[in-house]
Amino acid sequence: MSRAKDALQTYQKYYIDRDYEQLDLFQLLKSEFGISSVIYPGSFVHVSPSFVFQTVTYIDSDKNAKLFFQEEQVQALIQHRKQYKEAPSVTFYGADYSKIHSELIDSCDLLISQYAGFISEACKAYLNIDGLLLVNNSHADAGLAALDKDYKLIATVHRDKGKYRISYSALEAYFVPKGKTSITRESLHGLGRGVGYTKTAPLYIFRRVS
Ligand SMILES: C[S@@+](CC[C@H](N)C(=O)[O-])C[C@H]1O[C@@H](n2cnc3c(N)ncnc32)[C@H](O)[C@@H]1O
Repeated sequence: MSRAKDALQTYQKYYIDRDYEQLDLFQLLKSEFGISSVIYPGSFVHVSPSFVFQTVTYIDSDKNAKLFFQEEQVQALIQHRKQYKEAPSVTFYGADYSKIHSELIDSCDLLISQYAGFISEACKAYLNIDGLLLVNNSHADAGLAALDKDYKLIATVHRDKGKYRISYSALEAYFVPKGKTSITRESLHGLGRGVGYTKTAPLYIFRRVS
């Protein structure tokens, strides 16, 4: 990805064409929880959080993600689509997210983990106490957070007819394994993918409680 056009085409292909910008979800999270600072490890080029949140740090080791975030046209895209008055603050680390950057410790209100491994564990230190983890279970990260005493499940996220909504009900019904399978941190790390639960949601919201 060496030209600006390629960068914008990549965003178009992966996020706009697939209806996966998640803008209304980020808007909901902002209005419901008053989030101001976000860290998105394993973001690839999913830059739409910056359309909603002023301060976002992205971390990804992919070389195309690095090139993407260097493009002036990407900064222009954020400037054009942002929904807040202030100047955007966008930081990109072209790095392995499991290598902790001390300046990011206790620095965010929202940590995003989607399709990119065990971020709830590797990047927990970045999340303020009382901050939120938005996570799916594709790579078993939601299951891992459910076993972690530092996190408490506070809501689930659903999508009906293309619109996201947050639910606070029947939380105790989630993360109940199917059958008699015993699920542990070690077994999830070993598998690296989500296991079967009796009730599931597309995304989960956990609060960091300790
Ligand atoms: C499948 S993509 C998901 C991208 C984005 N989260 C989304 O939902 O569209 C996974 C991304 O995570 C990144 N990734 C996986 N493990 C990583 C690590 N240890 N450090 C940094 N980036 C990582 C990959 O480079 C890739 O861009």
